[in-house]
Amino acid sequence: MRGIYPSVLSADFSELKKQIIIVETENVAGIHCDIMDGHFVPNISFGPMIVETINHITDLPLDVHLMIENSQKYIPDFVKAGADLISVHYENNMHLNRVVNLIKDSGKKAGVVLNPSTPVACLTEIIPYLDYVLIMSVNPGFGGQRVIRGCFSKISQLQRMIAETGSTCKIEIDGGVDLSNIKELKDLGVDMYVAGASIFKSGNIIDTIKHMNELIRD
Ligand code: DX5
Ligand code: ZN
Repeated sequence: MRGIYPSVLSADFSELKKQIIIVETENVAGIHCDIMDGHFVPNISFGPMIVETINHITDLPLDVHLMIENSQKYIPDFVKAGADLISVHYENNMHLNRVVNLIKDSGKKAGVVLNPSTPVACLTEIIPYLDYVLIMSVNPGFGGQRVIRGCFSKISQLQRMIAETGSTCKIEIDGGVDLSNIKELKDLGVDMYVAGASIFKSGNIIDTIKHMNELIRD
């Protein structure tokens, strides 16, 4: 599960297949798919049909980040489409334990996402059930936003909670990750790095991923 997850939200969709094949030539942990419904977040992206298309293009694990209302209803569709990891937001899932169990009972890795203003303490009860926690370092909804550095302090808080509970939960970060901060994030304890604009809009996808991998090498 550790490594870089390029977010296709910033890919050139007219060349999606080509760009995924390019990404695949490098050492990445999976493909991050941002699902937005225009309700939970102000933007609309894509749904299970595109996830299924991506699944046909690549054997890489698909990390599906649900930014939608009523996630529970749509989880079976994303499982069917080929999702390997599915994360849901803390903020709009009233029955979080039920939703997390639904993901796990479907044989997939389950994650919970925290918006920038949601404290780590909210996770105390759910952490034993999780495969990963996704810390948002931008307000969800758009690629290419400037990172909110204040969110980085949540990484060590989360590490402490993970250690105290004996959990094997991984830490993922999403939003504004680029060559200037990925090393710092690694040193802080991040396991999974989502990066959209900094990879797909860099002008050289391969070089950027190579460089990122050098910076997060143990
Ligand atoms: C934002 C999404 C992110 C987005 C990250 O709501 O969750 O996954 O694609 O894009 P960058 O890396 O450009 O901030
Ligand atoms: Zn995301």
